[in-house]
Amino acid sequence: MSLSLDKNIFLQEINKASSIDEIEKLRVHYLGKKGLISVEMKSLSSLSIEEKKIKGQELNIFKSLFEKELQNKKRDLENKELNEKLEKEKVDTSLPSRDFNTGKIHPISQTIYKVIEIFGSMGFSVKSGPDIESDFNNFTALNIPDHHPAREMQDTFYIDDKVLRTHTSPVQVRTMLNSEPPIRIIVPGRTYRSDYDATHTPMFHQVEGLLIDDSSNMGHLKGCLIDFLKEFFEIKDLNYRFRPSYFPFTEPSAEMDIAFSKKDNVIKVGEGDDWLEILGCGMVNPKVLQNCNIDSSKHQGFAFGMGIERLSMLKYGITDLRTFFESDFRWLSHYGFNPLDFTSSSGL
Ligand code: PHE
Repeated sequence: MSLSLDKNIFLQEINKASSIDEIEKLRVHYLGKKGLISVEMKSLSSLSIEEKKIKGQELNIFKSLFEKELQNKKRDLENKELNEKLEKEKVDTSLPSRDFNTGKIHPISQTIYKVIEIFGSMGFSVKSGPDIESDFNNFTALNIPDHHPAREMQDTFYIDDKVLRTHTSPVQVRTMLNSEPPIRIIVPGRTYRSDYDATHTPMFHQVEGLLIDDSSNMGHLKGCLIDFLKEFFEIKDLNYRFRPSYFPFTEPSAEMDIAFSKKDNVIKVGEGDDWLEILGCGMVNPKVLQNCNIDSSKHQGFAFGMGIERLSMLKYGITDLRTFFESDFRWLSHYGFNPLDFTSSSGL
């Protein structure tokens, strides 16, 4: 063994190293292409077979010892570095935040919180379901069978035999299949349709409502929606109208419009000469109850569905739907809500 490969020398050298950099230099010095160990390895070829065997073995033992020591030292140094860093960067989590205005609640979230708060006070609980739905839950159980023209009312994204839910109504089906009346739920959530222009985005939000018991009727439905809208828009007088409509899953069906006026580009909700469609609703079609194993001779109820974006635009004066989803921080700073502004009784 040549002098340059003295075990004690390299142990001393490793010991002396005080940074990862120095460790790396040592590695190159011994194991690099022209490093001491590599050169010794190459010189083996000029030896006899017998000598090669003995010296080769020695060299290998030396090499693994060197690698192991180097590794250990490196780990020690890394740990030391980390500990020093942690010591320096200690965070006092009990300190108050210095900037309360950085993060904002998105108007969609704020609207959903508000909707939950109001319907919650009327005794509705919140349910959710998956964005990727079965054809059965999104269409068939809701009385929209295969090839029914009603399917064309909603341009659908298909994924193999599944769909991106085109409305929150499939959660009606999930809930009815899994529970017994009385049912009183709302379902805020994301929905998808293949559509994109100033008033449509391929992903949008709806809130569904479903109430099933043994006596609720269209009058209750109307009262519930009128109360909700008055509370949501914080107005005492709300001019509204219910227009007859068609949905396969409700019978009779209606759409609700609210009156509005526009002055100097500011929309006033509740009064005025123009009408704005705000939601779809109706009495749950007995066929849907039967599809969901609910006895339609004993139970009845109502359902409604409305667009969260539209509610949000009207309440907060946002004019272009697409801006909701552009993730523009300046927009969010303007229209977003301070997380610590607890304006509602529930703190939401
Ligand atoms: N699902 C309907 C839609 O997306 C809305 C709706 C829900 C209508 C419940 C009636 C009852 O247009």
